Parts: sequence; C-alpha cells; structure tokens
Amino acid sequence: MADTTNILTLEHPVLPVLTQRRSPRAYTNQPVPADALKQVFAAASSAASCFGEQPWRYLVGNRETSAEAYNKILNSMGEFNQVWAKNAPVLVVSIAKLHFSHDENPNAWARHDVGQATATLAIQATELGLQIHQMAGFSTDKIREAFSIPAGYEPVAVFTIGYPGDASLLSDALRDKETAARTRKPLAEFVFEGGWPGLQDERYDQADV
Ligand SMILES: Cc1cc2nc3c(=O)[nH]c(=O)nc-3n(C[C@H](O)[C@H](O)[C@H](O)COP(=O)(O)O)c2cc1C
Repeated sequence: MADTTNILTLEHPVLPVLTQRRSPRAYTNQPVPADALKQVFAAASSAASCFGEQPWRYLVGNRETSAEAYNKILNSMGEFNQVWAKNAPVLVVSIAKLHFSHDENPNAWARHDVGQATATLAIQATELGLQIHQMAGFSTDKIREAFSIPAGYEPVAVFTIGYPGDASLLSDALRDKETAARTRKPLAEFVFEGGWPGLQDERYDQADV
C-alpha cells in the first residue's frame, strides 16, 4: 500500500503516486523483498535515454544479503546523511556510463538519463509502498575506491530504499524536516511559453520557495 504521509499539494491534479513520492529519513526494519527490488530496477530500465544507451548502472548494498557493500555505501556518505540513511535496509549508488557504446563519443546526456531512470524507479517504489531518498552528500572518491569503479563510469548519487517509518523514530531536528509542509514553485516560475522571461518578470521575492 502506498505511503500517504505528508502528501504534496500541487496547483493542478497529477497522478496520485507523484504526490505520494517523498524522501523520508525514517524507515521500518522491514527488509525489501527481492521481487520488489527487481520491480523497482525494472522500472528504471523503462526510462527513455539518448540513443537508447541506458547509461545507468546501480550498485546495491542490501543489509540482509550484501552487508559489506551496504557498509561501503554508508561510509561514503557525509555524517549528516549517515545518521538517518543507516535506518534504511537498502542503499544504492547510481552510476553513469560516460561514453556512448556505439561510437565511444562522450555522452553529454548520461547524467540526465541516470536521473531520469532514478526518477522512474522512485515512482515504482512509491507504488509498491516503498520510498527512496536520493543524496548528493557522499564522496565519489570513496565509492570509486571501495568498489573499484572503472574509468568511464561516474558515481552520480546515492539513495536509500525502504518502507517509510514513523517520524517519531527520528531526532527532533530530523522529525521537524520529515513533517514540514512540502511546497513547490508555482508553474509561472519555471514554465515559460513563447520565450525566456525578462528580468522584470522574475520573481526573486519567491526564490526561497
Ligand atoms: C540529486 C539529489 C541530491 C540530494 N541530496 C540530498 C542529501 O545529500 N541529503 C538529504 O538529506 N537529502 C538530499 N536530497 C533530497 C532532497 O532534499 C529532496 O528530494 C527535496 O527536498 C524534495 O523533497 P521530496 O523528495 O520529499 O519531495 C537530494 C535529492 C536529490 C534529487
């Protein structure tokens, strides 16, 4: 059953699963069944990609079945992420293959496509009652070294996968973040029909939204 905690309210109706997806820091102890993980990664492979390259790679550390990899991923994170990410049963590194396979030219869209695959994966996870939380706060060098990532591949992000838990499991500061109202920029700030907006149109007053 999908997580219905802290649902996002938007200006216009969208698929419910899009408003249910969120980035929690509290997780239950429940392991993620292997079949569910396969569904989540199958969803990633459904994403579009430049030249159909599918430049995404995912390194998985499962606390139950691959604890060593799990700890390597956890140790690559900044302390501020480790404190809550260790609650999740599965940790993942997303990695981009930086050159096209058909001609070895640089793939300028590799990271774009990795992000798009992970966004798709996140929606599938939400639909299965799971959630993911992506992080930039990790060391690419530590991941490279710990997993001997070959040249031509670049760690992009790390993320948790798990069943969301109760916010009361968190410290006061993290609980406040977990339960804070979720907001988004209005469409007017990022959709420009007909041309780039003039400086006078930019709403700097809402830059913090
Ligand atoms: C590429 C990326 C990097 C992020 N890095 C971190 C991070 O290092 N630590 C963290 O707590 N959250 C991180 N986040 C989570 C964002 O803060 C979160 O997605 C955003 O506040 C929107 O909240 P929501 O996902 O619940 O809608 C990251 C998200 C993305 C997509």
